[in-house]
Formats: sequence, C-alpha cells, structure tokens
Amino acid sequence: MAESMTGLKRSHRCTEVSNKNIGEQVTVMGWVQKRRNLGSLIFVDLRDRSGLLQIIFDEDTIGTEGFEKAGKLRNEFVIAIVGTVEKRSGAVNENLVTGDIEIKAEQLRILSEADTPPIPIDDNVNVKDDVRLKYRYLDLRRPHIQKNLITRSKVAMITRNFLSEEGFLEIETPMLTKSTPEGARDYLVPSRVHPGSFYALPQSPQIFKQLLMCSGYDRYFQIVKCFRDEDLRADRQPEFTQIDMELSFVDVDDVIDVNERLLAKMFKETVGVDVALPIPRMTWQDAMDRFGSDKPDMRFGMELVDVSEVVKNCEFVVFKGALEAGGSVRGINATGQGDLGRKKIDALVKFAKDFGAKGLAYIQLKSDGSVKSSFSKFMTEEEMDALIKAMDGKAGDLLLFAADQNKVVWDVLGNLRCEIAKKYDMIPEGEFKFLWVTEFPLLEWNEDMNRYQAMHHPFTMPMEEDLQYIDTDPGRVRAKAYDIVLNGTELGGGSVRIFQNDIQEKMFECLGFTKEQAHERFGFLLDAFRYGVPPHAGLAYVLDRLVMWITGEDSIRDVIAFPKVKDASCLMTEAPSPVDDVQLDELAIAIKENKEEE
Ligand code: AMO
Ligand code: AMP
Repeated sequence: MAESMTGLKRSHRCTEVSNKNIGEQVTVMGWVQKRRNLGSLIFVDLRDRSGLLQIIFDEDTIGTEGFEKAGKLRNEFVIAIVGTVEKRSGAVNENLVTGDIEIKAEQLRILSEADTPPIPIDDNVNVKDDVRLKYRYLDLRRPHIQKNLITRSKVAMITRNFLSEEGFLEIETPMLTKSTPEGARDYLVPSRVHPGSFYALPQSPQIFKQLLMCSGYDRYFQIVKCFRDEDLRADRQPEFTQIDMELSFVDVDDVIDVNERLLAKMFKETVGVDVALPIPRMTWQDAMDRFGSDKPDMRFGMELVDVSEVVKNCEFVVFKGALEAGGSVRGINATGQGDLGRKKIDALVKFAKDFGAKGLAYIQLKSDGSVKSSFSKFMTEEEMDALIKAMDGKAGDLLLFAADQNKVVWDVLGNLRCEIAKKYDMIPEGEFKFLWVTEFPLLEWNEDMNRYQAMHHPFTMPMEEDLQYIDTDPGRVRAKAYDIVLNGTELGGGSVRIFQNDIQEKMFECLGFTKEQAHERFGFLLDAFRYGVPPHAGLAYVLDRLVMWITGEDSIRDVIAFPKVKDASCLMTEAPSPVDDVQLDELAIAIKENKEEE
C-alpha cells in the first residue's frame, strides 16, 4: 500500500550524502535497486538520478514493524528513508561515490510499490533496442542514459550562457509555418480552418532568422526542434534539435570566431578537452581530393593519392577507360595491412562496391617482400614500380585503387578509408579533431531533376570572385558556406547569406524557379530585403550529434529522451497512429489507402 510523504522533506540526493555527513540525520528518497537479507540485517541499495546509496535496516533501530516492512521491499519500489549517516559497517565499495558510508534507517515509508519491470534497470544487461524503446520510461532510469541526458542539459546550458554573454538574444520562431527549403521532405499539418491547406513543420528556422536580422535583432540564437521527413540513418532523427544562430554585420571569420570559442568552452566544461584554437580550415576541394569526403576524419592519415598521371599510358582497361571517360584513378595506402588474407580483401572489395565502385584494384606488398596484385598482368613492371612509388608503398602495405568518375572515386575511397581505419584499429582513442570545411560549391547537379540544386540552401552567398561564372558555368561557383566537422561527422553548417535582391533572384533562376514561383514561396523574404537589410550570416549545429560526441555514444537515440526508430515511429506511444473519422472530417481529409489490404 502506498504511503504519503507528508511530514517528510528530501534533504539530499543519494550521492549528495558523504562521509562529511557522518552522524547527521538525513531524509533520502528513491527507487530500490536491490535488497539483501542477512538474518538480523537488511541491506537496500537506494537509487536516484545521482547514483546509489546503501541503507541498512536493523530491528533495534527501526522496530519490528519497520523491519518487517523492509523485508517486503522489492526492486523499483519507491521509498523514503529517514536515518543517520554512518561509516560503512562492511567493506568499503570502491566503485561507489558513497561506498564508504551507509544510512542506518530509522523510518521507512513505501511511497509506491512496483511490478517486476520487463527490463532490468541495469547498465550491464543487454536488452534488445525495441524492448528498451517500448518501455522507454524504464530504460530512461538506467544510469548510463540518465548521465547522457544530464550532459545534454549541461551542453544546452553552457550554450545559452555563452551566447547570451556574447550578446545573442534567444527568440522563438513558429513551428506551424510554411515550407523551408533545406532539401528534405516536409512534415505537413492540415489546417482545420482552411480545408485543403497545410502548414509545414520547419526543417530549420532559416527564413525566420534572416527576417529577424532584417528587423534589427542583430544576434539571434535558439535551441530548436527541426523536422525532416527523410530516410533515417544512425545519426539522424525525423525531429532533431539545432543550436541555431544568425548574426548581422559579419563575414565568415566572425561567425567562425564566436563558434570556436563556444566549442572550446563546451568541450572543456563537459569532457575536459582543450580544443586547440584556431580550428584548422580546409576548402571543400582539398577535403575531397585528400580525403574523398566533405567531412574528413582527421584522426588518421591514409590520404587519397591521385595516380591518374602515373597510369595514364597503361593498358589496364579499367584505368584507361575511367580516364578516357573524364574520370580519375586514385588510391589509398592502408599502411601495415599488406598481409591481409584473401577473405578480408574480398570484404573490402564488397564494401567498395556497396558505395558504387565497379571494382577495387589492389596491390599487396607482403612483409616477406613478395607482391600480389589483382591487375599486375595488365601492367608492365615499370608501370607497377611507378605506381607503388607514387603511393609510397613499402613492404607490409596494402594499396587500393578505384577508377571511375571523380564523384564515385571520392565516395568509394573516402568511405573505405574510414572502414579500414575502424576495422584495423587505426583510430587513436580520446582524440577530438575539429575541422572547418569551407568554400563549398554553391550548386550541385541533380541528375533526376535535370537541374542544379543548392548545395546548402538557396540563401547562401556566392564567393565574390566567382560571381562572374554564375551564368556561364554555375557549377564552378563556390559559396561562402562552412561546415564544422568533428572526427568525420558533420556537427553543423552555415553560410553568409545573400542580402541583395538581384543576386537572390539570380540564385532562384539558377535553381529553376520562375520569378512567379520564387515570389509565391519566398516573396515575404524578397520584400523584406527591400526595406533595409543588413549583411548577415549564421550557422546551425545538431545538438544531438554534439552530445553524441561528448558522451561517446554511437547512437543518436541514446542522447534523446524519447527517440523514434528507423521507420520514424515511436515504439512507446505507437505514433503515428490512425485518427478517428470525426477528426478527419473536421480537416476535410479522406484517406485514400485501400482498407482491404490491411
Ligand atoms: P543544414 O540543413 O545543413 O543547415 O542542417 C544543419 C545540420 O543538421 C543536420 N541534419 C540532421 N541531423 C539529425 N537528424 C536529421 N534528420 C538531420 N537532417 C539534417 C545536417 C547539418 O549538420 N538552416 C541551415 C543552417 C544555416 O545555414 O544557418 C541548416 O539547417 O547534417
Ligand atoms: P578484371 O577486369 O575483372 O580482371 O578486374 C581487375 C581488377 O580491377 C579487379 O581487382 C577488379 O576489382 C578491379 N576493378 C574493376 N573495376 C574497377 C574500377 N572501376 N576501379 C578500380 N578497380 C577496378
């Protein structure tokens, strides 16, 4: 039976009690982690979000009735204890903050009983993900997840304090809004008052923060939910949280400066890491050429080497064909992996093919001095020697080559590089390698749509020196855009914005919008620009990814209180779910799906 806590007031969280309190009376409350009966004594581990505290019941102190009650305690009962802090009677538990003390109970109240939980509240038990998420409220009791959410709160707090000290204002922007073009599919919300019309949930506050700059707020930030209806990956969620900001009267360096100081403070105060400032910068072109990726992992080498020149006269059709088709041949040197067995090399070839390679050519420089290659029969001895030399190949190395269009070669080798480093332990532990990637292309060609699309978003400013190519060779125009990368993941990105109507209209034109379409969708922004707009720029981080790195989690779900699974559903609430006909009628919505199929 549940008792009330009337007359009691919690004095400490479990681990706030220490040997400094010995002799004092305290009142603690929490969940029973474990009970052990030792004849005339009963021990209970009490848990709250701060950790564990040992309670000891002896009949002389708590009385017969209290002792009997303690004997009935089971896991996850919620209890209140009044007792005196004592030096631990048994052996000190080095693993616990409170391992040298215990509370001798004088009063026990059972505030709530508990059924046996379907998942154990324990970090060391392996429970399937879908069961964890179905009972997320129990999963959230696990110390490890609690620690993550506590860290998340701290990151948000550090951010708020820092930005506010730097003169940023926290301003909310609407959730029910018009579609913002960040490139993903929108989540739509039907309007009851305007049947047939829909709001879009924001993919980001992009347009609103630019309007706030037009309105003179000069430095804005928001910790804000963004919604994108796209296929989920390990570090994506349909709703995720951005630390979003925008600044007026600034250029690239100003945005980078304030953000470097924010990152340094955040990593120092959470994980004690000193971020060396300034954070290195690399142009997008260099990142692709050297690492095959616009978010290079700088914790290890294995850089790409363009060997097109070296192999341009060879007879190997794979290389020759790729070069004749305007592509390139590039390689990586997996140093020290020259003795890998056939199966392991085949696995790398398969990995490359999954990223679109037609094959993966290799040279194994075995440590006994012998050489094995998948394509030496098509090459002369001199050509092979030149290739090995170009790759700086030594006995014990494995050289891997991809030949194709640049885009494919980069993607294949960029990913292969990371796969090999992970698989063969080439990544040093505990390193945080930050990098700014700058000068992204403004536009990228979309084969399916047969037109250019904005690489970042349509409001990104072209680099002044490239504006001359915007009509003749748009693909060549670079943007004043930057991404912040940590250990091979994109933490966030931003850009300097277009603030001139003529350039903005030109940009819409490049993207295939007619003047009318552009005005229909973004007319209010173009109008706002007519009434005095300051030069402005901004950036947005994914808070979830920042917290992943700070906590060392591999899954974005472990840093979000109530995450969704791969098909964008919530296993606990079972959202999304059908709604009743009355609700649909009010919205003037009819469901098209064939009910018989169900
Ligand atoms: P962008 O579209 O690059 O920029 O988004 C910012 C960051 O969000 C990440 N992201 C996601 N993270 C988790 N789950 C998702 N579903 C998801 N989708 C995207 C991106 C990127 O790192 N308004 C601009 C910022 C600006 O220009 O100021 C914006 O939103 O990988
Ligand atoms: P083959 O022409 O099948 O004898 O291939 C010889 C070697 O070249 C094999 O190791 C293939 O995996 C490899 N190969 C095939 N296509 C490519 C490509 N586009 N890039 C790199 N290697 C390739």
